[in-house]
Amino acid sequence: MPRTEPVTDWANDFDVLDPGYVEDPFGVWDGLRATCPVATTQRRGRAWLPIRHADVTAIAHDTTTFSSSDVAVVAFDQDEEEDILPYGLPPITSDPPLHTWTRRLLLPWFSHQRVESYETLTREICRSLIKEFFDSGRADAAVDYAQQIPVRVISHILAVPDDMSEAFTGWVRDSLEFADDPERRRRGNYGIGEFLWSKLQERKESPGDDLISDLLAARHEDQPLEDSIVLGMAMLTLIAGVDTTWSAIGASLWHLATHDDDRERLVADPALMDTAVEEFLRAYAPVTMARLVTTDTEVAGCPMNAGDKVMMSFPAANRDPEAFERANEVVIDRAANRHVAFGSGIHRCAGSNLARMELRVAIEEWLRRIPSYHLEEGARVTWAGGQVRGPRSIPVVLR
Ligand code: HEM
Repeated sequence: MPRTEPVTDWANDFDVLDPGYVEDPFGVWDGLRATCPVATTQRRGRAWLPIRHADVTAIAHDTTTFSSSDVAVVAFDQDEEEDILPYGLPPITSDPPLHTWTRRLLLPWFSHQRVESYETLTREICRSLIKEFFDSGRADAAVDYAQQIPVRVISHILAVPDDMSEAFTGWVRDSLEFADDPERRRRGNYGIGEFLWSKLQERKESPGDDLISDLLAARHEDQPLEDSIVLGMAMLTLIAGVDTTWSAIGASLWHLATHDDDRERLVADPALMDTAVEEFLRAYAPVTMARLVTTDTEVAGCPMNAGDKVMMSFPAANRDPEAFERANEVVIDRAANRHVAFGSGIHRCAGSNLARMELRVAIEEWLRRIPSYHLEEGARVTWAGGQVRGPRSIPVVLR
């Protein structure tokens, strides 16, 4: 059964879950740029889709008019989660002042120094994954590799067993990728919530060197944090850190499987890795967030009403020819690259150092062992979209 009616009028009836858009949003944005840079829809409530870099960043910086109290791209009835998470998932679902201090508490876990300390582990994870499939000469670069890496690193940060990885991956997919299916979304959110709630109780009894213990020991205005805030922050770390990074790793490996020239260049000149990683983030930015309009306003001449949603298409902003030369080309040595894959303004990704490290290490380790590979003939690459876009299956032959 199709999850949504196909879109025929992108300017007035867009849908980020349209299968054509999920597979190839680039043509849709190009069409809109020429005619209507702020599209609208009534599907799942009234929403807007600005695609220009200047509009997206201006909205991201105006946190008074555009609140983060509802960041779900696929709208759902919030009541069902309000009872256990009255503060949502701070800092991403909060505005100042709650946003300010919850973000400050998370940042040390993703500082350059901390992230460096996770690099050896990340490399080991990548090497052992490759070992599993290398001899067979084939792999699904999304399922067997990209999907497996971030969840294991996050499990380490939360000090939860590695064998929970599969359950976490399933829950995060239910929560984000299948957000339009109330049952799956609920199963995902409750799965993550109940598991982390039990960890929270355990850490109260026996604290360790992990994020949850650290948050339980933290103080705000001399008071311990409410349990629901600690739970929301731990849930956010898992939800924000898994699907996003695996999508970025998968999209990069897909690009390198389908562009021999870029792959050969990167293998021959590994010094290009840093600019290549930034370019993959720009060109295949996975994350779209939403904002809730708090008061009647206007963006680029479009009247928005309080209660409307705005889709923050960081991916579309990254393809704006007014902001980037050769915006639709992947230029792995692009020098100036002020992309917004990690957002812009006060909610800019708190885990960007970790994401960049994982992305770089995952590509380095893959190319070190598999310098040459291509898509399996006749195989279908599948993509997921909505809040997070990325490949979910990339069958490849290792040559
Ligand atoms: C390639 C991978 C990633 C991408 C593209 C990405 C993208 C984003 C974006 C666009 C935002 C801004 C949200 C907004 O404006 O509403 C964000 C926020 C956030 N991200 Fe990431 N993210 C990635 C990986 C990670 C990782 C690995 C973590 C940590 C485990 C993480 C944790 C967070 C947190 C905590 C926030 C909320 C920050 C705030 O509200 O102040 N992200 N991310």
